[in-house]
Amino acid sequence: MEPMVLYIFFFSLMIPGSFSITFTFKNNCPSTIWPGILTTPGKPLFPTSGFELATGALQSSDAPAGWGGRFWARTGCDGQFTCTTGNCGPALQCNGAGGSPPVTLAELNLNGDGGKDFYDVSLVDGFNLPVSITPKEVSCISTTCSADVNSLCSPDLSVKGSDGRTIACKSACLAFNQPQYCCSGEFASPDKCQPTNYSTIFKNACPQAYSYAFDDKTSLFTCPVGANYIITFCP
Ligand SMILES: *[C@@H]1O[C@H](CO)[C@@H](O)[C@H](O)[C@H]1NC(C)=O
Repeated sequence: MEPMVLYIFFFSLMIPGSFSITFTFKNNCPSTIWPGILTTPGKPLFPTSGFELATGALQSSDAPAGWGGRFWARTGCDGQFTCTTGNCGPALQCNGAGGSPPVTLAELNLNGDGGKDFYDVSLVDGFNLPVSITPKEVSCISTTCSADVNSLCSPDLSVKGSDGRTIACKSACLAFNQPQYCCSGEFASPDKCQPTNYSTIFKNACPQAYSYAFDDKTSLFTCPVGANYIITFCP
């Protein structure tokens, strides 16, 4: 190596958190999915914002240290990338668009407060398929929503496919847009916004996942900075 290259290489080793973080995506679902990625504004971009993942396939991507954002699965996409769930626009790459809810979210904020990674599975915008986050670091715990929430979905929250089966389940906030379900207005604080008859259905099915916006106590997990992660769809 040339002296300058060597110098940059060793200097990069001295900056804590300058290493990239490896995310491995697994599709255990019975069909192809198209994961979408949205980087939180102000965070360094993920190297891709959408890709195809066949049944049984694995794919890894290296994210910049300090990345933050969300992953979700698009299902039933046609050649123009109109998808039955999780749609983000008419292309494989989501390019800064989020997934159209209802969709299950895997959310991560690397190197957040106190030098920790924060991660969660969220049903705040509803559910389309099961998702888990597994840190590759023994001291950190996995979080998963592995239940088929679609089969438990209340009829007034259900999104049906062309064959009449439930393909996604709205959250009560998404379906009714009322302050007590969305933790908005006079319900905009953790002590005011309580579980509801709808959010408890999600919580019973997926105890580790956010069932409403202020469900932090049982749904938000941390890991020391530097861990790599496995994101599994249909764990
Ligand atoms: C939840 O409570 C509301 C208001 O009392 C009621 O209209 C609705 O049918 C209930 N839904 C479920 C799924 O229990």
